Amino acid sequence: MQSPQVQERSPAPMSSGASYDINDWQKGYQSQPNEYEYWIDDVEGQIPPELNGTLFRNGPGLLDVNGQRLHHPFDGDGMVCAIAFSEGRAHFCNRFVRTPGFLEEQAAGKILYRGVFGTQKPGGWLANAFDLRQKHIANTQVIYWGGKLFALWEAAEPYRLDPYTLETLGIDRLDGVLQPGDAFAAHPRIDQSSTESAPTLVNFAIKPGLSSTITIYELDTKGKVVQRHSHSVPGFAFIHDFAITPNYCLFFQNPMDLNPLPYLGGLRGPAECIKFRPDKTTKVWVIPRNSSEPMQVLETQSGFIFHHANAFEQGEEIYVDSICYESFPAVEPNQDYLQTHFPDLQPGQLWRFQLDLKTKTVQRQMLESRCCEFPFINPAKMGQPHRYIYLGAAHDPEGNAPLQGILKVDVTTDERQLWSAAPRGFVSEPVFVPRDGGTEEDDGWVLTLVYDAAHNRSDVVILDARDLNKGPVARLHLKHHIPYELHGTWTPQCFAPSEGDRPIA
Ligand code: CO
Repeated sequence: MQSPQVQERSPAPMSSGASYDINDWQKGYQSQPNEYEYWIDDVEGQIPPELNGTLFRNGPGLLDVNGQRLHHPFDGDGMVCAIAFSEGRAHFCNRFVRTPGFLEEQAAGKILYRGVFGTQKPGGWLANAFDLRQKHIANTQVIYWGGKLFALWEAAEPYRLDPYTLETLGIDRLDGVLQPGDAFAAHPRIDQSSTESAPTLVNFAIKPGLSSTITIYELDTKGKVVQRHSHSVPGFAFIHDFAITPNYCLFFQNPMDLNPLPYLGGLRGPAECIKFRPDKTTKVWVIPRNSSEPMQVLETQSGFIFHHANAFEQGEEIYVDSICYESFPAVEPNQDYLQTHFPDLQPGQLWRFQLDLKTKTVQRQMLESRCCEFPFINPAKMGQPHRYIYLGAAHDPEGNAPLQGILKVDVTTDERQLWSAAPRGFVSEPVFVPRDGGTEEDDGWVLTLVYDAAHNRSDVVILDARDLNKGPVARLHLKHHIPYELHGTWTPQCFAPSEGDRPIA
């Protein structure tokens, strides 16, 4: 039942001065094989009654198949969660994306497919060599667009789900635009900037090889593909995310080499065959969205980028704010991800890249040195100058550590706000939800899922985006845990069950 105040929780013992206990962090990687559907009635604080809509999240729900452990969480089958908010109440639902590979493995009770991040079938290299079949795991992002809910994984087509029940409806090829086996990345961006036309969803696909092909897709509000163009870039391209402005798509080609032999030979997953090259530059591909202008390439210092916060144009310059790592940690076949020694790894940090299209030069500047990931902005600012960036961040300002806090960076004043779930809480990506009718960029809420090791369960945490420091507005306790997730989106449509199924508040 709802209580008026968010209660303080008592701290737990920590190891060696760290803000967390590694055993607590590890517990967030237990599989969640169960599927639930219920109204959340264990709430601290008050769910804002004007927060109406649905938070969709996606991530690996299984870290093992019948006890056979996966080598890396990124190989886990996608499990989508929907938290639907309606007039001060919230409904929870989670379902696995029923891909053929998921169904086959569940029926067999064992691992049948190799994973990109090193999961191998039992039986050693002989059992794995030259088996290049790929299991669609649909585990990275979920977005409601054009009246359809899509679960996304960057190496294959979107899966369509029912937004109310999360039932898997099947692969969706965007009215035949995608061919079987075509990819559709897990980082679509919605351009709301045009005043003449309705918003556009922009996404891309990478076909890696000796030279790689980048295909850009633009979808109108009905989900129809209205633009598609492909571009070839030299070399292997490991590109997970991109950024957009009204005129350009921006791709940072991380300096990586691929040696596929250990993959073909059954010894490693493809991602374990990638080698970061600190001696090489990062290439920045600037591809015009709508004109026949040629694409341009700029170069900057070596670094590794998974995620961009946003990009915007100013005169001849383009600014891109991104999380950059000094190097990409190799995924090794004999390493156990649960034994990650955080202090040994480079933290992700927030950088600003300033691209000068006239001089073809790039300048970069660190905006935030605290270890952070999963940047998120007010969606209305996509492709436009933004003031605020929300991030998952480490509790301590220095060093590399699990994400335990939500950080708000004001790039105009350089001010910071931080809410931390340490010592026993571990956060996921923050999703900003604008308040209806709000005019300020930070007028809204930040929603995140927090794994609470003290209770071995996850909480949906609602923060007031204007003031993170004051702590949660509400903390919704789920009845179970959700393994650490990857990405999520908000839609103003509420996909809760009908009023008849609703308990009396
Ligand atoms: Co991502």
